[in-house]
Amino acid sequence: MSKIKYFSENLNVQNKTILLRLDLNVPLNEKKIEDKSRILTALPFLKDLIKKKAKIIIISHLGRPKGIKDNELSLTPIYKFLKEQLETNVYFFMGDINEETKSKFSYLKESEVILLENIRFFKEEGENDDNFAKKLASLGDIYINDAFSCSHRKQASIHKITKYITEAYAGPLLKKEVVAINTIIENKKEPVTCIIGGSKISTKISVINNLIKNVNNIVVVGAMANNFFNLQRL
Ligand code: 3PG
Repeated sequence: MSKIKYFSENLNVQNKTILLRLDLNVPLNEKKIEDKSRILTALPFLKDLIKKKAKIIIISHLGRPKGIKDNELSLTPIYKFLKEQLETNVYFFMGDINEETKSKFSYLKESEVILLENIRFFKEEGENDDNFAKKLASLGDIYINDAFSCSHRKQASIHKITKYITEAYAGPLLKKEVVAINTIIENKKEPVTCIIGGSKISTKISVINNLIKNVNNIVVVGAMANNFFNLQRL
């Protein structure tokens, strides 16, 4: 049985500050969004929280700036698009996350949204820094992770933040992915072949180890396959 605590439709979020971790990592070309799918997929839940009068702080990454501010990886184009799509005040916060940030956000009213600038501009995010996660957590009452595609990352806004916030849930998009995987695993008709791709084997080893127990064949594709070819050559 899954131990994940899912966000419930019945939870009263009115006037509560929600820290919403989304994956708004979309492809950009000269600061224009090339594919809006990820943002569009995140919108229904966001609109639902707005309707329920929550105060929402969105946290997302874009690319891999590794703790260095890079104008090319600013969330500004995503902010502009969100502003067009949401019928409420949407603010963009480009400042530091420190002891003063919480009081700076006191202007946020029910149903309003703040988008934080690319969280990976802070090196503490990649380092899963305890103090940084604590400061992030202090900004909200409830944390919701709806960013399945980066939930395997041990980073402050995904992993360490949950140590400092008492109320934390998985959002509906994350739930959809987990339910889909569980459905496949539970209803599998053998033999089952799983195709897995990606660029870095280091972050997928634990996933592969877990899959080995559940499937008959694993086909490794993409850049990750090179690690296997390399090993065979040794
Ligand atoms: C993705 O695009 O796969 C996710 O946003 C995760 O990005 P990351 O691999 O840089 O963590």
